[in-house]
Amino acid sequence: MSKDTLTITDNRTGKSYEVPIEHDTIRAIDLRQIKVNNDDFGMMVYDPAYLNTASCKSQITCIDGAKGILRYRGYPIDQLAEQSTFLEVAFLLIRGDLPNKDELDYWTRRIMRHTYIHEDLAEQMKSFRYDAHPMGMLISAIAAMSTFHPEASQFEDIEIRRKQVWRILGKLPTIAAFAYRIRIGRPFNYPDATLGYTGNFLYMLDFMGEHDYEVDPVLARALDVLFILHADHEQNCSTSTMRAVGSSRVDPYSALAAAAAALYGPLHGGANEAVLRMLTEIGSVSNIPAYIERVKKGEIRLMGFGHRVYKNYDPRAKIIKRIAHEVFEVTGTNPLLDIALELEQIALEDEYFVSRKLYPNVDFYSGIIYQAMGFPVDMFPVLFAIPRAAGWLAQWCEMVDDPEQRIARPRQIYLGHDRREYVPVNQR
Ligand code: CMC
Repeated sequence: MSKDTLTITDNRTGKSYEVPIEHDTIRAIDLRQIKVNNDDFGMMVYDPAYLNTASCKSQITCIDGAKGILRYRGYPIDQLAEQSTFLEVAFLLIRGDLPNKDELDYWTRRIMRHTYIHEDLAEQMKSFRYDAHPMGMLISAIAAMSTFHPEASQFEDIEIRRKQVWRILGKLPTIAAFAYRIRIGRPFNYPDATLGYTGNFLYMLDFMGEHDYEVDPVLARALDVLFILHADHEQNCSTSTMRAVGSSRVDPYSALAAAAAALYGPLHGGANEAVLRMLTEIGSVSNIPAYIERVKKGEIRLMGFGHRVYKNYDPRAKIIKRIAHEVFEVTGTNPLLDIALELEQIALEDEYFVSRKLYPNVDFYSGIIYQAMGFPVDMFPVLFAIPRAAGWLAQWCEMVDDPEQRIARPRQIYLGHDRREYVPVNQR
């Protein structure tokens, strides 16, 4: 008769152990009983970069990397991208279900009411160097927000927690837009809640006092869809950072600043910036074969390709490719698109990429769209961070309420020196 257990035989001792299996998983702590001597620490698992370790149980985002499936709270990403809005998706992720009309109206009003940032924070942002990377400004400003809202550390109180969620979602586009305006040496545009979430963001970025200024609805909608696609992606590097830092019970601003810092890296949220730099470096379709050869020799990586969990076409990349065409109708095409399309075509047929299941990921086309919309490349990770904050907050709320979670504290295998005696500097 089959049993939901795993039997492990330790060939060092000949002893067998039976450990329970739940959700195709065994608990690492159940291995601790496996010892040679009674005073041994016990067996651990070694899993650098968490390739095969589940660190939480979650009900938020489901990914089936082999099949190319992504769902938020059960809803397929393509349905949400087609029919929903970013703020509705943020509600879905954080609160667990789609809102009814009253709930959505209230949620939207609360978030848009919190789009203004404290003037002192705006002043602090002005003290950055003119060429400061906007992601550095964003990370610092989020961390600084904890000093403006000290009650945030009392997040066990559900009302206080909800308010921080509204504040973060409301203020991030403003901080991002201010970072951009500092970068281009222009005065800040204060939020206009009537323009909607992405419409207001585009306004704060672009408005230059024109009397006939209007946000282009196609671009606002395209950005909204891009925000939906980026809103969550389960336990990636930045989200697990949010959970790990949040597990120390620090306030959500400090945890979110850490998550944003994790996102900044070129292997994560910085990849769309790296894709653009790569396409610019390639320069023309005729240079692609030589570039691919360098990738295959291991000299460089094809940015925007490959994913830790997708071993199939990233479902977000498919939707983004469609949005690209809608945006180009308004902005005119981006010359880098031809290089991207050809690069994708060649890579998808090449044995190196096929055998390693390397497909375009979300970042392959998003940068081309952002550039066509007029964003400088260093704003790209910021455009990733704004919507991902919804996912970080959803995961953080789930983590702080999960009775199984405690402060994150991985183990190590110590391979350093055994005890040795200190030698004064003049005797070394
Ligand atoms: N170009 C060329 N070869 C690659 C690439 C790539 N982009 N990605 C993976 N490989 C090769 C890698 O060299 C290795 O080959 P081999 O087995 O011969 O050593 C094999 O594929 C497996 O790679 P890996 O490094 O073990 O895979 P990973 O799961 O650790 O890395 C990744 C995932 C996303 C970091 C990686 O694919 C990568 O560096 N991609 C480029 C950066 C990028 O586009 N990042 C954005 C990810 S999507 C946004 C997000 O969710 O953050």
